[in-house]
Amino acid sequence: MTLAEVLRGATDYLSARGVPTPRVDAELLLARALGLQRIELYTQHDRPLTEAERAAARDLVARRGAREPLAYVLGDWDFHRLTLKTDRRALVPRPETEVLAERCLELLDGVPAPRVLDVGTGTGAIALTLKSERPDADVVATDASPDALALARENAAALGLDVSFVQTDLADGVDGPFALVVSNPPYVLAAELDALEPEVRDWEPRAALVDEGQTGRLVEDARAVLDGRLVLEVHEERAAEVAAALDAAGYVDVKVGADLAGRDRVVEGAWRPKSG
Ligand SMILES: C[S@@+](CC[C@H](N)C(=O)[O-])C[C@H]1O[C@@H](n2cnc3c(N)ncnc32)[C@H](O)[C@@H]1O
Repeated sequence: MTLAEVLRGATDYLSARGVPTPRVDAELLLARALGLQRIELYTQHDRPLTEAERAAARDLVARRGAREPLAYVLGDWDFHRLTLKTDRRALVPRPETEVLAERCLELLDGVPAPRVLDVGTGTGAIALTLKSERPDADVVATDASPDALALARENAAALGLDVSFVQTDLADGVDGPFALVVSNPPYVLAAELDALEPEVRDWEPRAALVDEGQTGRLVEDARAVLDGRLVLEVHEERAAEVAAALDAAGYVDVKVGADLAGRDRVVEGAWRPKSG
């Protein structure tokens, strides 16, 4: 079979299994299995594949056909300007979270050697992005999940970025003050879980998805370690509610920002500890 025939077969297979973008996924998986750039799938489309090449491609395509997230099957995923190792130990970093990271970089602009805390770091996406863009920052990242932290540490080592990782509940036991506390906490309601795509519902860690009150608790707890801004990614339907919680907790300059699709996704506010 030629490469073009295998690509067509893989696309049909993924399509029949309900994968939303079968052609693109088939191209990325085949390119990975064959060690090619995507464009080379077309320049080599007439080339017959060896049995070993077909077996490698079959393995990856079968995993994607079982609706395993593309990022887990590929084993890495781009976030902002970094490529991160991705697997079942942590949530796949999302494009909307890049907006959150960008907002943090904007806020840190002009702040010399800022101390930053990323709560619920997962793969380390936000913490590592901030450290790579701001090498002068002292970045601390927490997660309750030892698996996620192990993956985040692997990412930090692979990228040569010096971030301190702490296993704890939210910011418990972490020494402030921080100029910025950022978090993309779990914000799916348990009742919404069944309606999610199988890639999310059946594969990503439940503890990374399901809202168990982390956002509300962090609004309260972050005040103990903040001398600056709290920046949160939120469920698009709960931005106003989270902004009101920040107001009620005494944060000032509370703002709601939108993601790339114009949905209210980022809520932030400033907290200054009382002097004396
Ligand atoms: C939505 S994921 C975000 C991961 C990563 N920051 C990102 O944006 O891709 C939420 C993360 O928070 C962690 N988490 C959930 N509850 C937590 C808690 N109480 N304390 C610390 N981390 C928690 C989960 O393990 C998960 O890694």
